[in-house]
Amino acid sequence: MNTRPRFSLALALALLVAGSAGAPPASGQDEKQIDYARDVQPILEAFCYECHGEDRSLREADLRLDIKESAFKDLGGFPNIAPGDPDDSELYIRVSSEFLEMRMPPYEAGTQLTEEQIETIRLWILQGAEWPEEAEGGTDG
Ligand code: HEC
Repeated sequence: MNTRPRFSLALALALLVAGSAGAPPASGQDEKQIDYARDVQPILEAFCYECHGEDRSLREADLRLDIKESAFKDLGGFPNIAPGDPDDSELYIRVSSEFLEMRMPPYEAGTQLTEEQIETIRLWILQGAEWPEEAEGGTDG
């Protein structure tokens, strides 16, 4: 019976592993907390308001992204923003699409979101797409 020393070695290792479990949780690694006003609105403002904003003369699309009520509207059977579900959100589908004819901003506009900006939008929707009332960009009308 010479298993005892081995057992205590295993026990010591187990305690050692348990002791190092105080490290930051792995889940927090790539999920930073997104804030609409700080992280998302500047992207929409820089890349989308031009055509989805307040100025009717410049607006090329019906959809307004500077007004909460409009940004969350139903686009005929599918939501523009489905809180918690980026893959069901037309807005995210459009900015992340591989298809040029789907992609927003349109290819012809000459500007593209970076991977990081697209990921910011994805995380924002995933985290519930919170949009504080006071963060509305333009005025209605
Ligand atoms: C240069 C003008 C332009 C810019 C910039 C632009 N869009 Fe668009 N967008 C359009 C036009 C035109 C349409 C309608 C045609 C279509 O569906 O492709 C559209 C359609 C959409 C739709 C679908 C609306 C619907 O009713 O189905 C979404 C969602 C959208 N855009 C999101 C965005 C987002 C998000 C940005 C910024 C990252 C953006 N767009 C930037 C012109 C633009």
